[in-house]
Amino acid sequence: MTPDTAKILLVDDERIALRNLEHVMKKEGYEVVATQSGPNALKLLDEQRFDVVLTDLRMEKVDGMQVLSKSQAVSPDTEVIMITGFATLDSVVDAMKHGAFYYIAKPFKLDEVRKIVKEAIHKVRMKTENQRLREQIETYQGKVKIITQDATMQRLLDTATQIAPTDCNVLISGESGTGKELFARFVHLKSRRSGGPFLGINCGAFNEELLANELFGHEKGAFTGAVAMKRGLFEMASGGTLFMDEITEMPPSMQVKLLRVIQERELLRVGGTEPVAVNVRFLAATNRDVQSAIQEGRFRQDLYFRLNVVSLRIPPLSGRKEDIPLLSYYFLKKYAVLMKKEAREISEDVMAVLMNYDFPGNVRELENIIERGVAMANGKTIETAHLPEDLKELNIKTFRKREGKIPSLEEQEMAYIQWVLQEAAGNKTLASQILGIDRVSLWRKLKKFGMEEDSEE
Ligand SMILES: Nc1ncnc2c1ncn2[C@@H]1O[C@H](COP(=O)(O)OP(=O)(O)OP(=O)(O)O)[C@@H](O)[C@H]1O
Ligand SMILES: [Mg+2]
Repeated sequence: MTPDTAKILLVDDERIALRNLEHVMKKEGYEVVATQSGPNALKLLDEQRFDVVLTDLRMEKVDGMQVLSKSQAVSPDTEVIMITGFATLDSVVDAMKHGAFYYIAKPFKLDEVRKIVKEAIHKVRMKTENQRLREQIETYQGKVKIITQDATMQRLLDTATQIAPTDCNVLISGESGTGKELFARFVHLKSRRSGGPFLGINCGAFNEELLANELFGHEKGAFTGAVAMKRGLFEMASGGTLFMDEITEMPPSMQVKLLRVIQERELLRVGGTEPVAVNVRFLAATNRDVQSAIQEGRFRQDLYFRLNVVSLRIPPLSGRKEDIPLLSYYFLKKYAVLMKKEAREISEDVMAVLMNYDFPGNVRELENIIERGVAMANGKTIETAHLPEDLKELNIKTFRKREGKIPSLEEQEMAYIQWVLQEAAGNKTLASQILGIDRVSLWRKLKKFGMEEDSEE
């Protein structure tokens, strides 16, 4: 018996009816447990997990309603089907109200029972599948999943994996929304410090005094209002990693203090005289041009050298277009599960728009677009109508771009296929996915247009 075999509990105090059902359900290939006794059914529900419970409503001692409520208490995902001889409307309504999946009136047709049981199993399977997907996404978040098929990104991941177990400081740079924090978490989780805390601070969000308080903490009585000792982030991140975002925005005097902490591995709390040991791995990030910040004297070069032992430069999304379909489908799956929506596909038009857009907000912007698309979509597919307004306009522009004589449908198709192939870096499998046709059809078209030797796998 495979683990996928559905398991069914049959409860009916009429022996012949029970044997009959048992025979039919076994013939369907289900694993069947049958009992004539209500009290025994309750015991079985405690001991085993069933996908579906098929129970007679009117039984002596323990009736179908009790079986139903027991089943719901011990295993809410199990579907319960009521069988009733001469059903009174009240009892049926009552059973449905308490969550019975279906009722079957006696005498029943075996075909009807087969069909209803099949539906109930399908429903249970859908519930567990959704649950599994949700858990998968949750663990992805715990594990940090960086989605990419770009060669530069792949090299960055290799570097990050390699240097993670060392304690060296890392400077992560890249435009807003490219995944700097994601990389920082990745380094932390792959490091020997993964059991310790990962704490972050936005260095641009505080003035000097507040930043000192956040990072260094203070002694009791250090200033008016300092009624108790407070540990700062350098201390709280002990044994773990401190992620310092927008590092170039740190006030100059704080830069000196940070440099000292990195060099000496100890600090004084504000108002303190006793040095406290610091055991932290420093990861810093910036979306600015660090070199010009140094040239303009806003950022200390010696601090830069200390933080930039390893440098990870994350390319903008517009520079790695082959990640767009991959990320789109990743986010589609993520949000469809989270929002319990049916969206599974992205229309060709939408994908063309996304491939043609330059994403100033990078992956975060793409994620928002897909999240919105999933929320707006009613059916299986995200269509152009589910895109934000400015992107919809882009759709029209994409097709108006070619000037002069209006191209024929065939010319248009040829140009479009050529463009997609180019965007897919010649990868025909990816190109055919984006185009929404299979590889053979793509090959035929390429052959027809005399383009098949232009691209390689
Ligand atoms: N390669 C990727 N795979 C999966 N998710 C990604 C990827 N890159 C970015 N994301 C997601 O995009 C969002 C933005 O990423 P993140 O916060 O790391 O960007 P950032 O570079 O720190 O941005 P900012 O400069 O604005 O702080 C997050 O939800 C992140 O999980
Ligand atoms: Mg960030």
